[in-house]
Amino acid sequence: AFAAGTNGERKQVDNVAHRGASGYAPENTLAAFDKAVDMKADYIEIDVQQSKDNELVVIHDTTVDRTTDGTGKVKDLTFEQLRALDAGSFKGEQFKGEKIPSFDEVLDRYHGKIGILIELKAPELYPGIEENVAKELKERHLDRPQNEKIIIQSFNFESMKKTDALLPKVPIGVLTSSKAQATEQSLKAFSAYADYFNPSYGIVTKEMVGQVHSLGMKISSWTVRSQEAADFLLDMDVDAIITDYPDYVDPRK
Ligand code: G3P
Ligand code: CA
Repeated sequence: AFAAGTNGERKQVDNVAHRGASGYAPENTLAAFDKAVDMKADYIEIDVQQSKDNELVVIHDTTVDRTTDGTGKVKDLTFEQLRALDAGSFKGEQFKGEKIPSFDEVLDRYHGKIGILIELKAPELYPGIEENVAKELKERHLDRPQNEKIIIQSFNFESMKKTDALLPKVPIGVLTSSKAQATEQSLKAFSAYADYFNPSYGIVTKEMVGQVHSLGMKISSWTVRSQEAADFLLDMDVDAIITDYPDYVDPRK
């Protein structure tokens, strides 16, 4: 996608719909992902966790309390129990009946249609989740970057090192909102296994963008929920903007 920078130039920036187009539809549901496709975003961002019976599911919080009509921890509920929940109504009655998607359902429905930025959310709670994700990608030949726009990211750096070893051709991102993890030394350490350094926008500076680029990595920043934040990141020349509102990054969308 090309977006207009405040200096009037048009720069290439990937428009990433955060948990889908979650400003407009319930986060991490097919409704939000379909909306992102309709809005011509370049990627959807999804949060992946694991059910009690080891099925990969797409949900942000480690409990179902905020976004569904159920209660409890994702890891204590079976896939069947998770699928019985209403994951749409919290955003409005018109979304009633949206379900927590399975990871394989999202891959099958969207690969080839839109890029998928996969976040492993709290992988420390789910031993073996990296292998499980790798298996699903390999089964679909989605572990080859020349075919597909697939990226895997996490706040858990050990999990990303492991994922890089399991899926050497899939781009890896490290997430942080800490300035202390953006020193030259730590950026250099990330660059040994990561392709993206993905900070919250509050810590982004032009100098940081330059350092990340000079280490051969790209930079994606989050989470845009205002036009001002989108304009700031466009000005910073980041490579991708992770936003609840894809139209803030490119008004034509
Ligand atoms: O993609 C970055 C962003 O999703 C990280 O924060 O809490 O929304 O998963 P969070
Ligand atoms: Ca996320």
